[in-house]
This record gives sequence, structure tokens and C-alpha cells, in this order.
Amino acid sequence: MDTSTIVILDFGSQYTQLIARRIREFNVFSVVLPCTAPIEQVRALAPLGLILSGGPCSVYDDDAPAADPALLALGVPILGICYGLHFIVHHLGGRIEAAPAREYGHAEVEIVAGTPLFRGLPRTLNVWMSHGDEAKALPEGFALTAQTSNALAAIADEARRIWAVQFHPEVAHTRQGMELLKNFVIDICGAKPDWTPEHFIQSTIERVRAQVGDGRAQVICGLSGGVDSSVAAVLVARAIGDRLTCIFVNNGVLRKDEFAKVQRTMREQLGLRVVAVDASARFLKKLEGVTDPEQKRKIIGGEFIAVFDDEARKIFEAAGHADGSSEEVAWLVQGTLYPDVIESSSVKGPSQTIKSHHNVGGLPANMKLKLIEPLRDLFKDEVRRIGRDLGMPEDIIERQPFPGPGLAVRILGEVTAERVALLQEADAIVVEEIKAAGLYRKLWQSFAVLLPVKSVGVMGDQRTYGYTCCVRAVESEDGMTADWAPLPYEVLRAISSRIVSEVRGINRVVYDITSKPPGTIEWE
Ligand code: XMP
Repeated sequence: MDTSTIVILDFGSQYTQLIARRIREFNVFSVVLPCTAPIEQVRALAPLGLILSGGPCSVYDDDAPAADPALLALGVPILGICYGLHFIVHHLGGRIEAAPAREYGHAEVEIVAGTPLFRGLPRTLNVWMSHGDEAKALPEGFALTAQTSNALAAIADEARRIWAVQFHPEVAHTRQGMELLKNFVIDICGAKPDWTPEHFIQSTIERVRAQVGDGRAQVICGLSGGVDSSVAAVLVARAIGDRLTCIFVNNGVLRKDEFAKVQRTMREQLGLRVVAVDASARFLKKLEGVTDPEQKRKIIGGEFIAVFDDEARKIFEAAGHADGSSEEVAWLVQGTLYPDVIESSSVKGPSQTIKSHHNVGGLPANMKLKLIEPLRDLFKDEVRRIGRDLGMPEDIIERQPFPGPGLAVRILGEVTAERVALLQEADAIVVEEIKAAGLYRKLWQSFAVLLPVKSVGVMGDQRTYGYTCCVRAVESEDGMTADWAPLPYEVLRAISSRIVSEVRGINRVVYDITSKPPGTIEWE
């Protein structure tokens, strides 16, 4: 890696990924490693600085993260945050004790000694604290640099180039947190802001070319219509052109017009070679009579692999692979993102890396399928930035997440062609109205659910007896927790009246006001 790199050692804090993102906001590359990473692995990245994250443990816990104290003598500037401070103090000869009261939340910190870490900051900082232990005696060479009214808040040993703060500069509640991190990354470590989208695109293209080589090895990529697989495909296509074939399967439970729209965008606007397979009849046949949500997922997942396998085999065979004479190498592009790569609690051991990709099982045994994961260093917002720089349309870049099993988990009860068509219409209206109100990007997801509940209504002079449609709109950072969105009444009114008047078969619309937890985002 020829870019400036900062390594973050993860001691298990829920904020570790946030540190990485903050640093990348300065256009500096940052890598999260489990705190158990061997020192050689850290050295191999040639970091310009090391950040020790916070963590839930006490240095005295039996299962305190087992990081190598030799990391403290790596010779690059070090910044300890919260538990990172405790780790430094504990291993360099100071003393950590349990605080009488756990400090959690906002705190006011006073800077008591000038240090490059605080350059340009006001004397008083509003910060976010979260810790149970505190440093009682500092190791030799360290000086107190900031304090709260009753405890130590920051220390430094400038000779050894080690700084540490008891608070969390990476969270938004710490107002000058970004400036502090920037002081560390840019001024103290001397990192250059060279982690730019152009640099990423160029270096990824070169890497993929080198990986795949000049032979006739073919590359396939499953498209879902979502942002990750699309950006991954476009990047790989930039590297190897039409040696990449994308496979896009209509599983019968896509959104309205999605099958045609995605093909058009991918082929005409992005110049990708796309094999589109309309397997909807095959999927719907398998789903006949099935009402159990997990069963639906299994059927759709299994069928997808079968269809994907068939197509992949055709592509590889047409390209002259699998002639039985030698071991061929073929490649599968996967849109794995960085959060999938970093284990959420990597203190427990080295990262487990990639989520299991589906095995393309129908291929000849002598054909090895290797993975290309061009996005595995990126966070979701970075993927969007890259997509924009690649000239991809906003419509794809800003897309809300859509589950693999598609509308099948939004049709409660049996999935039939008739019900899919009803939900597609209702869902399209929800999305149109949400977009028209300028809310689409603000919401994590907004969609319609078809309930197997029929009720009586009246339209004109006619009695109706139709399905109930539920509108779901949630705000969320990552889909793990979510709040139901307080949609304006006018938007709800427009959605409701349009669905009832335009979708024959639905005569009642309700709004879901359940957050997650206790609810889930999807209904199944
Ligand atoms: P839940 O319903 O669990 O959803 O709150 C959280 C996020 O995950 C998506 N989701 C899925 N995505 N296959 C997927 O690819 C699935 O089976 C699946 N189930 C839920 C959901 O849309 C939301 O963004």
C-alpha cells in the first residue's frame, strides 16, 4: 500500500469503526485490526500512526484483551482512547484503578498543558466519556494534559510520542473531536490526505488486473440491483472489460419494473455485459403453498444458487473453460464491505473475514472459483462516493436496501403472482410519494407490505372486499436498530388515497408505528 496508513487496534469498543471512518474523512486510509494482531502484521502495513481503541473491559479482567505490549514501542506516534489509555498506563508502569462511579455521558474537560494533540483547541472541551476505570499513577515520562473536575482526562509522553485521552474524540458528542483526531493524524503522524476516490479507483483497477491476469480466465458477478454489487461490477469492468459477465436473476419477487430497469441501466448506461435470466415462473412455482417465512427464504436462496450455477457454467463453458485438460481458475465478484470484514468484537480473536458466498456448486471440480472483493476496504458511504466518481446514476447510488428474498418477505402468507403484482403496484406508489416529498434519502427504508387480511370498504356506491396494505418507513444508521419514521400526514394521505384508488384489490392502508426493537424492519 503506497498510501499513508493509520492502524487502529480494536479493543472491542462499539466506536472502533467510527474512528476508522473519521480518519478516512480526512482522506487518510485507516485499517482496523483486532488488538490480538501480531506485531508483524501491524508492521507490514507500515503505519504512520497507531490508535488504540476503547473497549468494554478492565485491564484487570481475566479476559482482558491480550494485545502485545511491544506494540507500544513500535516507533510511530500512538493515540490511546479510553481503554487504550488504560492499556498504555498499565503496561508502561502506571496504575489503573476502578473509579468510585462509572463516568458516562457529557463531560467538561480542561486542558492543563499545551501539546500538539490539542493545537488550535479551546481551553475547555465538551466531550463524551464512557469508562469505569481511571489512571491513578502515570508511567514515567507521562504528564497530565487535561482533566475533568474530578478525574484525569488526557496524558502525553511527547518524548516517546504517545498521547492518550480518557474521552471519545470519534463520537459526534465530542465537539472538537475531529480537530483533535486531525491533529494526531495529519500533524503528529504526518499522514498525507491521499486516500481519494480517484486513487482508490485507479489502484483497485490495477489490483484486479494483476489478480485476474492476462489469460482467458472469466469473471462473473451476481447483480442484485443494489448499490454494492453494482459498484463492484462497474469497478471490475473498468479493469477487465468484457471478461466480466454479470448475472441478473428475476426471482419473481423484485420490485415493479426492476428487472427491465436494472438491465437497461447496467447495459446502456454502464456498459456492462449482463446475462438476464427471467426465472420468475420457476421461483413462484417453488413458493406455491408456502407460508413460513424461513421456508420462503430457503427456497429463494436455493433456487437462486441453482439458476446462478446454470448460467455460470454456460459462461465458463462458452469461454473455453472446463475442457478437462487443466486446472482452470475462474473468478466471482462479491460486493463484500468493510463492516462485513471487521468482526464486530474482534477482541475475541482474529477477524473471520468474508461472509460465506454462495458456492457455485454445479461447476466442474477442476475449476477453482476465486473471490474478487473490490469493496472490502470500504464503508457504505464510501461505496456511494466511489459509485458517483465512476459516473453511476444517482438512482442506483442512493438506493435503499432491499432484502434478497425480495417481496416474498413482504407478502404475508402465500406468495402468488397476483399478490406480487398487487404489492409491486402499492410499493411503487409508496416509493414515488416518498421521493416526491424529498424523504427517500433520509429514510433507511420505505416500502409496502401486503397483509393477508381482507376487509370491507366502499368506493363510489360499490361495496369492496379487499386486501390491507401496510406502509413501513424507518430511520436507521445500519438496520440493526430503527425508529419508525414520523411521516408527514400529507405524505401518508397521498400514499393512502393513491393506493386505494390505483391498486385494484387493496381497499385499506395502515401505517406501522413499531420501532426495532421490539419489531423487525421487515414483517417476516
Ligand atoms: P430486519 O427485518 O431483520 O431487517 O429488521 C434488517 C435489515 O436486513 C434486511 N433483511 C434482509 N436482507 N436477506 C437480505 O438480504 C434477508 O433475508 C433479509 N431479511 C431482512 C432488511 O431489509 C433490513 O434492511
